Amino acid sequence: MSDQMKDRMKDIVSLCKRRGFIFAASDIYGGINGFWDYGPLGVELKNNLRDRWWHDMVIAPPLGLDGTPISIVGLDSSIIQNPKCWEASGHASGFNDPMVDCKESKKRYRADHVVVLIPKDGQGYALAFDKDAEDIEIEKRLKKLAKNKSISDFDRKSLDQIPVEDFPNIIAPDTKKAGTLTEPVQFNMMFKTTSGAKEGSDSEVYLRPETCAGIFLNFKNVLDSSRVKVPFGIAQIGKAFRNEVTPRNFIFRSREFEQMELEWFCAEEDVPKWFDFWVEQRTNFWLSLGIPKSELHFLDVPKEDLSHYSSRTIDVEYRFPFAAPDFDELEGIAHRGNYDLTQHQEFSGQKLDYFDQAENKRYLPHVIEPSTGLTRGVLALICEAYTVDENRPSGVYLNFHPSMAPKKAAILPLTAKPHHVEPAQKLYMELRDEFVVDLDIKQNIGKRYARQDEIGTPYCFTIDNETLEDHSVTVRDRNTMEQQRIPLDKVKAFLREKIYG
Ligand code: GAP
Repeated sequence: MSDQMKDRMKDIVSLCKRRGFIFAASDIYGGINGFWDYGPLGVELKNNLRDRWWHDMVIAPPLGLDGTPISIVGLDSSIIQNPKCWEASGHASGFNDPMVDCKESKKRYRADHVVVLIPKDGQGYALAFDKDAEDIEIEKRLKKLAKNKSISDFDRKSLDQIPVEDFPNIIAPDTKKAGTLTEPVQFNMMFKTTSGAKEGSDSEVYLRPETCAGIFLNFKNVLDSSRVKVPFGIAQIGKAFRNEVTPRNFIFRSREFEQMELEWFCAEEDVPKWFDFWVEQRTNFWLSLGIPKSELHFLDVPKEDLSHYSSRTIDVEYRFPFAAPDFDELEGIAHRGNYDLTQHQEFSGQKLDYFDQAENKRYLPHVIEPSTGLTRGVLALICEAYTVDENRPSGVYLNFHPSMAPKKAAILPLTAKPHHVEPAQKLYMELRDEFVVDLDIKQNIGKRYARQDEIGTPYCFTIDNETLEDHSVTVRDRNTMEQQRIPLDKVKAFLREKIYG
């Protein structure tokens, strides 16, 4: 990260705290790494993004490939599920132990599943094998890589017992050269807790590491209780928890966060067209919120980096300041195949297949999953909105899309005298049912404008002496700082047009 961008992130974090967007969780106790609280303005911004996603997915989903609205239903599943769910999804085994990556073969190993043969004479490299490797297989490899030494010339240790400083001296299981293993990382990404009064392994449960699991578990319930037919989607927004090894970059990677996920169920042969459809839809979503195309990048995730369940993923990346001039992930659009339904069907013993009446056949639908972080989206909106402008007293303003701005307007009586305050209060009462508006009475008007600029309020209405004479108000535009007068009774219509129009 360049120094300039480091400063940019620092300024953003500081503005977020100063103006009440985002605070460190447990701030008065010195914080807690990876956890954040959303203040009065942060929660409005987050709700705006959440509501917009829900609207565009569930309330008014896009028109599909045939020009008619597609079908998506909502869900709000429990954060804690039966622990078998995580065995089926692969999270229980994959997330629980120190893992070591090989930079050469791109393979990942559980450190305690790798056995290392260390030469007794201290000469040459140590050799790593799968712990279940047969002696005959070991001997074969020793012949090639260890000058015809045999098993008895080595001591055995498990990789998790070997200090990291010695890793450069180890030839990994699937390579021919030493020094390709990374440091072990604790991949116990799931937070564990207990359910019920009795502690013990029977009562151990996990906080979900992604929201989508609840969707797969309820696939059959939704099919049986609604009139949906494949293709259709189930959407969910909610908290997810990951014990990230290195939470970083403010709310970008945190240990508690929120996701907005759609699982789109379709026939396998239709996957390519629906995949392209969702990439386009999701791109349009971010563009419509004021993220310019130039700040987005689409990464066709290389095969070796794909998650275990995915055969294709496109990451929609945004140029976050800490990544600039590069990009980092904002959303992933994954083809999950029918991995999840297959796994849950097997582990639960319940049939999860779909019966297609028209074709008279049963099958497990494939899934395309656009999945984005709500909290990460909030960070993208704040970073994009942050605009330096030395020509205004605040020096900076947040250029939010009006529909995302936490406050849609501020009503500012010029003075705190009753003849200014009373009409301001009246206007506030008229607007507040429909818009989140601020009535800010005290302080000089310049300071009040500066505050509204810093929190990204698109319009300020000022009540002054002229208001008393001709029933008009001044509207100040946040971006241009231009002022115009409009009739008091047209303020609501003005806001409607600017915000929804
Ligand atoms: N169900 C698929 C899934 O969870 P993911 O790529 O691990 O896929 C999807 O996560 C999105 O969730 C990411 O694109 C990101 O926006 C958000 N996300 C993931 N981990 C996060 C974290 N630790 N903090 C904040 N957001 C996170």
